[in-house]
Formats: sequence, structure tokens, C-alpha cells
Amino acid sequence: MYKILSAEKLNAVIYKMVVEAPLVAKHCLPGQFIIVKVGEEGERIPLTICDYDRKAGTITIVFQPIGQSTQKMAELEAGDAFDDFVGPLGRPSDLVETPIEELKKRKMVFIAGGVGTAPVYCQVKWLHENGITADVIIGCKSHDILIMEEEFKKVSNLYVTTDDGSYQRKGMVTQCLSDLIDKEGKKYDWCVAIGPMIMMKFVCKMTEEYGIHTVVSMNPIMVDGTGMCGACRLVVDGQVKFACVDGPEFDGHKVDFDGAMKRMRMYKTEEGREILKKQE
Ligand code: FES
Repeated sequence: MYKILSAEKLNAVIYKMVVEAPLVAKHCLPGQFIIVKVGEEGERIPLTICDYDRKAGTITIVFQPIGQSTQKMAELEAGDAFDDFVGPLGRPSDLVETPIEELKKRKMVFIAGGVGTAPVYCQVKWLHENGITADVIIGCKSHDILIMEEEFKKVSNLYVTTDDGSYQRKGMVTQCLSDLIDKEGKKYDWCVAIGPMIMMKFVCKMTEEYGIHTVVSMNPIMVDGTGMCGACRLVVDGQVKFACVDGPEFDGHKVDFDGAMKRMRMYKTEEGREILKKQE
């Protein structure tokens, strides 16, 4: 059993938990994910790691309930435990495999939205620990759903943009990115975008025009995280890949987002999964 040491609600829909999982904490790297299970018969839920503390033996996860299993998970409290907490899974971010001297030459910007803010934090914190402070853009609908602002302020140059202008800048993350480049003289050659699929799609469209290499995390399309269910199948550069095995990170300019979004809509609901079973 994996004990939940703390559980809190970060906004109306997003939850954060710190879980005791020493072995996962010992081996995990930014970009990787874990699978949790609530109850013996519970569904497997893949979640990208938000933070880890090797000394304390803990993993921090951030999630948004989107179905029965994640709703059950949201009801757990500090002192409760997960039946399963498996990981680390997936390939680590390319950052950790790149020499620090190379990374220091990169002009990096991270773009985060929704629960995607959590895996971005893991990478940005890792960079900061290695002497690199990256620019980060967090986008949200309004100020009340902004998460992890204080944590990011400590490890990055943070820009927040809200759709309704209720906090800091007004507009989408793409607007903020183009303002930073065109009006404020920022130069980037590397972008990491993690968040809703639609956000990643439009960030990629824009960075392609600017000629900025862009990495995206396809975690949102994962269902069981085992390479077995086929839900996370996507086309990258004309080739079929599985987000949970070959990713979750891919070159965003080569991802077929429209195809991936179509599959995600089907797989994320019980009804959709039934329809797919009949089709495949
Ligand atoms: Fe099921 Fe990847 S999430 S195969």
C-alpha cells in the first residue's frame, strides 16, 4: 500500500497529493509517469509526475477527475493509501539526457495549461537545480483556476496569462508567446508545451512559424498506460506510436493532433470505449 501523506484541492477541479513511494522516488526523472489504482479492482490511472523528493521518498501528483476512478481518487484523504502506485514509466524528458552545457545554450520557454502545469514544474525545477532558469508561460481561463504560481516563481521566470484578463496578461498562451518574442525581444529556440491537446496544437502551429523546436507531452491521451489498450496510439511523422511506451514526449511539429484528439474523445468515456470496441 502507498500512503497518501497530504491531499489538497488546488482549485475547483484540480487536486494535489504527496504519496509515499520510496522506490519510485529513487528512480524517477522528469517527464516520466506513474500508474495509480484505487481499490483492488480499480482502473489504472496514468499520471505524469509533478515532483519527487528522493530523500523523503515521496512523489507529488496533480490530477483532475474526469471519470469514476479519478473521482474516487479525489475523495481520498491524507492517511488513506493507494493499492498500486507503479513507476517510473515512460521515457524521461530529453532534458535529462542532454549535457548541461548544451542545455545552457538553449533558449527555452515552457508553456503550461491545466493539469499540464504539473509535469512542466518537474522539468523546470530540475533545470533550476542544474543552474538553468527557464521562462515559463502558464495559461488559464481565469485567476481562480491558476495553480502552482508560488512554486514556479521560485524556479523560473514566470508569465501568467488569463483568457479573461483577471490576472496579469490577457489572452491565450499563444498571444503571450508572440508578445514576448515580437514586442519584448525574447528569443527562443526550444519550447516545451504541456497541457490540453488543443493548446499544444496551436502552440505547435505558432512555434513552427517562428522556427522554434517544440516538444509536447501526449499524456492526456493515455488510458491504462500499459501499451495494451491502444488508446494512446498516435501518428508522429507518419508513423504509429504509443504515447505510454514511445513517449509521452514527442516532437510537436510531427504529431497528428487532429487524429489524436479524435481518438481521445472516444476513449475517455465509457460510451466512447464501447463504440471503439465495436469498430476495431
Ligand atoms: Fe493504453 Fe498506451 S495508454 S496503450
